[in-house]
Parts: sequence; C-alpha cells; structure tokens
Amino acid sequence: MVCLGNICRSPTAEAMLRHKVHEAGLDGRVEVDSAGTADYHVDSPPDRRAIAHGERRGLKMKHLRGRQVSRADFERFDFILAMDDDNLAGLERIRPAGSRAKVALLMSYAPAAGSTEVPDPYYGGAEDFERVLDLVDLAADGFIAELTLK
Ligand code: 4NP
Repeated sequence: MVCLGNICRSPTAEAMLRHKVHEAGLDGRVEVDSAGTADYHVDSPPDRRAIAHGERRGLKMKHLRGRQVSRADFERFDFILAMDDDNLAGLERIRPAGSRAKVALLMSYAPAAGSTEVPDPYYGGAEDFERVLDLVDLAADGFIAELTLK
C-alpha cells in the first residue's frame, strides 16, 4: 500500500487489509506492508488522526512506522497498490524494468466505490479520514476477492 507520506492513507490501508486477511483466515499466506513515495515521515508513527479514526473501526496502527518505497519492493511484493494518480506516477518512475510486482491503483479493486483515488486527508478534517476508511474498506474486500493463492 503506497501513498505520499506513509502516515495517513497507506498505513490505514495496510491495517485494513491485514484485518481482513485475518478475518479471511489467510494469516501467514498474505504479507501486507505500506510505504510512502516521499521520505518526509520515515520512522514516524501514523498521523494521530488516522490512528484515532482507525481505532474506532478496530484497526491497530500505533505500532506502524513510516518508510519510503524502494526499488527492492518491486521484487519483494506481488502487488504494489497506489492511493492516487501521483503516487502511481511516482512508482512508475522508480520501477525497475522487468520487475515482478503488479502496480495499480488500490481503488481499481472497487470500481463501484465511485472514486479511482483515495484522496489525501492530511489537510482535511474528520470526514476526510472517515472517507479514507470507507474507500480502503471496499477496496480491501475487492482485492481479497480477486486474490488467487497458489
Ligand atoms: P499520506 O498523507 O500521503 O496519506 O500519508 C500525507 C502525509 C503527509 C504529507 C502529505 C500527505 N506531507 O506533506 O507532509
């Protein structure tokens, strides 16, 4: 899960997908992580608003720490899912030629959600953090439904 800062959207998406992977009985079969295209918040915990809104939906995010996406991630992960078009373009710029990861927008897994992006809530309010949760919830369901595990 990749956003810009790795303190609002992508840690929320990481925690949501991990929660659903657990509920689907897929612990140990699906590894979930997140990162930012920028390095502003490396080693920082998620934004306290993201933590608080996530906790109200049972998500644990306090222990997460920011990191920047690296070229090695394109070999380590099967899927690298961007929160918005800018993040997707940033990923495409550093993507090593021939690397294995499928790179896509997270919201491509929830076409009925009415948004192709998870909008940045950083300069927004409570409703923007709730919207992030609503969107990543739908997309995580769609992603798990499409996952074919060998
Ligand atoms: P995120 O939100 O990409 O969802 O983690 C942001 C966090 C920090 C900044 C921008 C967006 N920032 O400019 O510091």
